[in-house]
Amino acid sequence: MMALTRKWDDDLTLPTERLVIRAIYPSDAPLIYAAIMETLPHLQEWMPWASPAPALADTESFCKHADAQRKAGKDLILIAVDKTTGAHVLSTGIHPKDTGVPSFEIGYWCRASKQGQGYVTEVVKALTDYAFTHLGARRVQIHCDADNAKSAAVPRRCGFIEEGRMKHHALKPDTGDLRDTLIFARCQ
Ligand SMILES: CC(C)(COP(=O)(O)OP(=O)(O)OC[C@H]1O[C@@H](n2cnc3c(N)ncnc32)[C@H](O)[C@@H]1OP(=O)(O)O)[C@@H](O)C(=O)NCCC(=O)NCCS
Repeated sequence: MMALTRKWDDDLTLPTERLVIRAIYPSDAPLIYAAIMETLPHLQEWMPWASPAPALADTESFCKHADAQRKAGKDLILIAVDKTTGAHVLSTGIHPKDTGVPSFEIGYWCRASKQGQGYVTEVVKALTDYAFTHLGARRVQIHCDADNAKSAAVPRRCGFIEEGRMKHHALKPDTGDLRDTLIFARCQ
């Protein structure tokens, strides 16, 4: 396990301008499942876990896993909810990379009805700051399919440097075709 300078709180909550980024609990399964169902075609284009479509029981298992991983200090799988209503806006995470230095990878997907409003950018900025100021991160990275222009635009808006392109790094989840992966990072 990599050396984190500080461990996150079990009940992590991180407010941003319009949202609260927070820990996932087992009771969140219906909230997250409704967002997955709303967003399914977008998810199936880019995220391997979305095909075949998950059942509610899969999301229940995922929420229990996220809760356990956070409590064990192993992984920080999160959601961001509307500050006023508590509605799910996006799913995200800061995933520790086992590289020997404190470094993390941020992932994200946004529910269909909340895309195009800057929520993902707001969250990635806040999580990157959190990783540097609270987790002692020296590197925060984001990977995405080189064809996923909306995803690549997020790290670009958040001041990440585009470090490179891994050719034929993975297969597209919907077609099985080879895909390239872009690497973005911020370091300090
Ligand atoms: C990738 C994904 C998360 C990007 O979501 P997004 O809504 O485009 O990202 P943001 O929330 O940062 O919104 C940016 C858009 O809102 C607009 N916007 C509005 N207000 C804004 C604000 N205050 N700040 C920043 N952008 C704002 C931007 O101009 C941009 O619009 P554009 O795409 O027309 O240029 C989303 O498309 C998604 O969930 N896709 C499916 C899953 C996926 O691909 N995940 C990533 C895998 S690597």
